[in-house]
Amino acid sequence: MQAITRRLGHQSFKSSTSIKSIYPISDHYYGIDHERFVSTIATKGVGHLVRKGTGGRSSVSGIVATVFGATGFLGRYVVQQLAKMGSQVLVPFRGSEDCPRHLKLMGDLGQIVPMKFNPRDESSVKAVMARANVVINLIGRDYETRNYSYEEVHLLHLLPGCLDVKQLPKKRIQPVYVVDVASALTTALKDDGTSMGKIYELGGPEIFTVHELAEIMYDVIREWPRYVNVPLPIAKALATPRELFLNKVPFPLPKPEMFNLDQIHAFAKDTVVSENALTFNDLGIVPHKLKGYPIEFLISYRKGGPQFGSTISEK
Ligand SMILES: NC(=O)c1ccc[n+]([C@@H]2O[C@H](COP(=O)([O-])OP(=O)(O)OC[C@H]3O[C@@H](n4cnc5c(N)ncnc54)[C@H](OP(=O)(O)O)[C@@H]3O)[C@@H](O)[C@H]2O)c1
Repeated sequence: MQAITRRLGHQSFKSSTSIKSIYPISDHYYGIDHERFVSTIATKGVGHLVRKGTGGRSSVSGIVATVFGATGFLGRYVVQQLAKMGSQVLVPFRGSEDCPRHLKLMGDLGQIVPMKFNPRDESSVKAVMARANVVINLIGRDYETRNYSYEEVHLLHLLPGCLDVKQLPKKRIQPVYVVDVASALTTALKDDGTSMGKIYELGGPEIFTVHELAEIMYDVIREWPRYVNVPLPIAKALATPRELFLNKVPFPLPKPEMFNLDQIHAFAKDTVVSENALTFNDLGIVPHKLKGYPIEFLISYRKGGPQFGSTISEK
């Protein structure tokens, strides 16, 4: 999203003025460079919906949500949280039937509905939203391919009435636990409409440098830190050829694992929540600290298994 804001900036959204439901929100801290857009179509939350049951997975939350990008990393957590409160979740997918399969178990029978769609076909996009009273857009990619430019990947940002997740601007980083982000989305859906049309910046409770994060990671996987300090100009020089040749060579180029120009630009800036932004606090959520459960999964990356490097004697 950063990429598209930077590339298209103000201009791109000007061209979307034909979509009447999109209007700019300007306030003192986003300013002209960070203009944000919201929909006028949805004017209240889903707090007015009829609910049944005790609020668990077999109850009825009244929410019928289409979650674009549900097959991605954040998507699975959002689907899980929607499903566990008894919502029906429509899952548009573009790959094989296997792509959304893991999501089906997250809800009661028939509550998770995978729907094949073609992101390039407007009627197909409309069809997957037709029955929904909530649309969440998690589609995003932080590199371009021959098939999809940043502009095209983020086309769905122009759709009205979407709850949207955008990449925060990025040196100091404020990592956030994915489960907290999913909670923020579902909390915003459940409120009485107070969050509607507002922009929330979701950052964790602590701020780290990239180096500190790497140290934590090495500590958890119990390895000696190995760093290669790549100066910014060299990183850019390494990343630029892919960007230049992406659409000029007659074959697909491999996806960038390390040196994606957009990420490099982003790493040159801080990725922290702005001073006056609405945050987790405003949604009544206390985000998790990084150490502990949120990074426990790193244990699986220990070379010699979970006990690798343990200082406890095995008598
Ligand atoms: N993860 C983070 O740390 C982070 C941080 C800040 C913001 N975000 C934003 O949060 C959103 C979700 O992130 P994520 O980590 O879940 O991303 P992800 O794992 O890469 O998932 C991206 C989703 O977008 C879909 N998608 C990508 N290109 C598409 C295209 N051309 N047409 C249709 N669908 C397409 C993917 O579908 P397929 O499965 O079909 O490829 C997938 O479902 C993104 O907008 C991202 O920029 C993420």
